[in-house]
Amino acid sequence: MKAKIVVGLQWGDEGKGKIVDYLSKDVDLVVRYQGGANAGHTIVIGSKKYVLHLIPSGIIRGKLSYIGNGVVVDLEELLKEIETLESMGVSVKNLKISSGAHLLFQFHKYIDMINENEKGKRAIGTTGSGIGPCYVDKYNRTGIRVGDLIDKTLFIQKLKERINFYNNNFKSKESFIRIDEKRYIETILEKREKILKMIVYPDLFATEIIKRKMKILFESAQGTLLDVDFGTYPFVTSSNPLSYAAFTGSGIPQYFDYKVIGVAKCYSTRVGNGPFPARMDEDTENFVREKGKEFGATTGRKRNCGWLDLVALKYAVFLNRTDEIAMTKFDILSDMKKIKVLTGYEIDGKRLENFPRNVEQLSMVKPIFVDFEPWSMRELEDLKRKKFSKSILKFLEFVQKSLGTNITHITTGSERKDIIKINV
Ligand code: IMP
Repeated sequence: MKAKIVVGLQWGDEGKGKIVDYLSKDVDLVVRYQGGANAGHTIVIGSKKYVLHLIPSGIIRGKLSYIGNGVVVDLEELLKEIETLESMGVSVKNLKISSGAHLLFQFHKYIDMINENEKGKRAIGTTGSGIGPCYVDKYNRTGIRVGDLIDKTLFIQKLKERINFYNNNFKSKESFIRIDEKRYIETILEKREKILKMIVYPDLFATEIIKRKMKILFESAQGTLLDVDFGTYPFVTSSNPLSYAAFTGSGIPQYFDYKVIGVAKCYSTRVGNGPFPARMDEDTENFVREKGKEFGATTGRKRNCGWLDLVALKYAVFLNRTDEIAMTKFDILSDMKKIKVLTGYEIDGKRLENFPRNVEQLSMVKPIFVDFEPWSMRELEDLKRKKFSKSILKFLEFVQKSLGTNITHITTGSERKDIIKINV
């Protein structure tokens, strides 16, 4: 049995949802292992567009789908997502949630907003989904877990304590919004009823998975450069999107071989704050943003657009132990006047040997670009017949050689049929 782990190699929004959907046709189980409703995984099938935030993308194909303990679960968002999926004809009967996942409440979102307001110019530019504050409670050992929902009396007691803590400790903050304890608990209890049957104990669940030799696909959210340990800290999210977090974030022990599929766009984007050396000039950026629909799937915010950054990508490829790469959105750069790739960073005329050690250094670098011949949409169509144009081949060979890793799939559009398997 060989599991697969799909990770983002950039700052999120690489098109992981589409790749997970594609790969999930051959697996038995799809697992989310970190993050929360800050993610937005888009899958287009014909005229239908599904945007998933918390639920693993495998649900679209009716696969067993598991929200692991590493995820922070916002019940309100989860139920909204379930309703939307059901209204589109997708069943969620195969959705399971680990009892060890932490619950994200309204006060976490309020604290997220308070923190961002207090930071002023140094704000992270979070999605406002309460992710950081919920993980703070987890590691502060004051969180409430999905499994706590089972004992209603105890759950109410725990939630009351947390609401009181929030109302008392944050009331002096400028953007404080009070939580009405009674009303809020009522709404949460309504939601509790709907998810009780989905809760599973991770050890029992994992035992069954291993015993039945199920084929597993782990689906990461966000991207390597947003990893709280290895990303561009502090402009990161509060979890570990890296591949090896798949095991701690799911509780499925690694009794099997696995393969890591890294997903990267053929350019890059970043939403939220923090340095971004590969950023395009304004006109090109506006063009790419519109053509590539580079607006947040969760927040609708404009994404900053840059060229492919090979220094950052190489760093991400290494950290994830990436076996192969799926490179997305080739259609967006088609028919452009020029294409650039960032191949190095310089500070004071000296080339850096490694990815910058901190954001201060990253914000000082001068990017070195190499120009590439653009490709046409027709040339991309030819790829489906295994015909490679010179420009595409040159680009792919250069990137593969720089990274030392093969690109095995590229995408040329938003639909399932636009994923092309290649071997260069
Ligand atoms: P948070 O995860 O909401 O706390 O946001 C922290 C940083 O991660 C911000 O820069 C967000 O824009 C970014 N971020 C969080 N989730 C995603 C995502 O799914 N795609 C892209 N960026 C994200």
